[in-house]
Amino acid sequence: MTTNQTKLGGTSPFPNTSSRVYRLGYGAMQLSGPEIFGPPRDVDAAIAVLREAVASGVNHIDTSDYYGPHITNQIIKRALHPYPAGLVIVTKLGARRGADKSWIPARSRQELIDGAHDNLRNLGLDHLEVVNLRVGGMLEPSEGSIVEPLSALVDMKREGLIRHIGLSNVTPQQLAQAQKITEIVCIQNFYNVANRQDDAFIDSLARQSIPYVPFFPLGGFTPLQSSVLDQVAAALQVTPMQIALAWLLQRSPNILLIPGTSSLNHLRENLCAAAIDLSPDVIAQLNSIPAKAKPAAQPAH
Ligand SMILES: NC(=O)c1ccc[n+]([C@@H]2O[C@H](COP(=O)([O-])OP(=O)(O)OC[C@H]3O[C@@H](n4cnc5c(N)ncnc54)[C@H](OP(=O)(O)O)[C@@H]3O)[C@@H](O)[C@H]2O)c1
Repeated sequence: MTTNQTKLGGTSPFPNTSSRVYRLGYGAMQLSGPEIFGPPRDVDAAIAVLREAVASGVNHIDTSDYYGPHITNQIIKRALHPYPAGLVIVTKLGARRGADKSWIPARSRQELIDGAHDNLRNLGLDHLEVVNLRVGGMLEPSEGSIVEPLSALVDMKREGLIRHIGLSNVTPQQLAQAQKITEIVCIQNFYNVANRQDDAFIDSLARQSIPYVPFFPLGGFTPLQSSVLDQVAAALQVTPMQIALAWLLQRSPNILLIPGTSSLNHLRENLCAAAIDLSPDVIAQLNSIPAKAKPAAQPAH
């Protein structure tokens, strides 16, 4: 299989504006050093992954300035700036990193404003196309008002620093609360073939034409392991990770993918996943994968 634009799953409106992105995008978190801290072992390899992603048609890159911190965005800028027309870079605000590599919530108005300016500087942009407000815990959302931090993002949108607002790690109730204040153009929560707690949420977002962008689509730091994935992949002569991505693409038309990798081979493999057609029987088999316990992951936002 080759990767070309028609095989990136077709396009999908994102956000709810004139921008359209291919359903297969790229998540840049894995481009900084171990534990998403400091520089990667091989900066040139990270640059090569980004350049090949974009050369293959990827026009949706997910990032955050707290990856590294700062490092991932600086690598994106080095690899791709000046950015090609139509490339949508989505970032997140709501955390910062401690010197001990910890992930610390950073959702005061000033922290959010500082975070936006860090993103602008390190990405070399004069505005941020889409910003996800990241709330909740490490993997799961927790109920509670998000009005205060969201208001800071709405003010930055009014000032022109941010064009569109999304939410990450939220509940349907928090989305409803946010929609009373501003338009929400995407939701980024933890979801994959073995972690399906957001099934109903995805369906409700599909009815509203709001993109759902699962984080850890391949399981995150400990990629998914399942005998069902292995069997299906062997039968179709592809890899288990490609099956996990193909399942997500067929799960719902509002799902956009941002699989993360630091490897050119994995990138090439992932971008071919949209060419895999899963029959209803195979989908039923994959739907039987038991719910997995939370990944034995390093925490990540
Ligand atoms: N909103 C949030 O709270 C939040 C949290 C986490 C992540 N994110 C975003 O979501 C994106 C995706 O998450 P992620 O990168 O952490 O997890 P992921 O996409 O589920 O998986 C990445 C892991 O899978 C491996 N991998 C990738 N392709 C593979 C393949 N074809 N075969 C075998 N292994 C493969 C990667 O290792 P290699 O590098 O060796 O390929 C890496 O260890 C991130 O880049 C980030 O932008 C958001």
